[in-house]
Amino acid sequence: MPPTDDAVIEFRDVAYRVDQDRGLLHNLNLEVRGGEILVLLGRSGSGKTTTLKLVNRLLDPSAGQVRIEGRPSTEWDLIRLRRRIGYVIQEVGLFPHFTVERNVGLVCSIEGWSPERIRARVEELLALVGLDRQFARRYPRELSGGQRQRVGVARALAADPPILLMDEPFGALDPVTRAELQREFLALQQKLNKTILFVTHDLREALLLGTRVALFEAGRLVGLYTPAEFLRATEPYAAAYLAAFRTEQTSRE
Ligand SMILES: Nc1ncnc2c1ncn2[C@@H]1O[C@H](COP(=O)(O)OP(=O)(O)O)[C@@H](O)[C@H]1O
Ligand SMILES: [Mg+2]
Repeated sequence: MPPTDDAVIEFRDVAYRVDQDRGLLHNLNLEVRGGEILVLLGRSGSGKTTTLKLVNRLLDPSAGQVRIEGRPSTEWDLIRLRRRIGYVIQEVGLFPHFTVERNVGLVCSIEGWSPERIRARVEELLALVGLDRQFARRYPRELSGGQRQRVGVARALAADPPILLMDEPFGALDPVTRAELQREFLALQQKLNKTILFVTHDLREALLLGTRVALFEAGRLVGLYTPAEFLRATEPYAAAYLAAFRTEQTSRE
């Protein structure tokens, strides 16, 4: 029998409060399984980013437990934990005065890899995200938005972490580039089989990329669906999201 519990990340009765009166996240129970892309979908301010930050301990829960690979986040050594988790954010956060090579190889150099090994790894990673090796010498300002986002993904993958947190990684891109990166991202995941928590407010992106979609509203998980289930969902929050999405589709036609 395969193990019944293959959760890589698990939220158990998790709350996050800024202070007594202000809760950003309430009683979250959610499991992310090995190799899946679990999408956190919800409008701006619904608690998606807060949820991600509880995984890599940019935040710690006010109540409950976040378990990573079966162990509570607060019992992990912070450095070991972060080594197992790649983080990709919308504005990428590349160092502007570092070349692409140094940005991508940063974690490896902190880990004490030799310069040759880092160079080889950077080359491999750039190829993986569809960038020619010549980009290694460039600075972030010399790249397009899509290229910068590819570098951000390459950097997150540098030390081959089993878990990826992605916070609206394609949000700032034009629609054509975004669609291209989404397709490439899916192809990449076929190869890499990471466990991914992916944040978006875009239903189309959620349905395209997610193995499951967790719908958030006002700091609460209000529904958990496969993409096919989401499209048929009649619960009020999911239905409202679908209706808004369909209106937008119609007005584009
Ligand atoms: N440190 C903080 N102190 C107070 N409010 C915060 C803090 N961080 C985030 N918020 C608020 O909490 C809510 C949830 O934020 P967030 O998780 O970033 O939402 P999302 O990523 O879904 O847009 C938002 O209303 C945000 O303004
Ligand atoms: Mg956010």
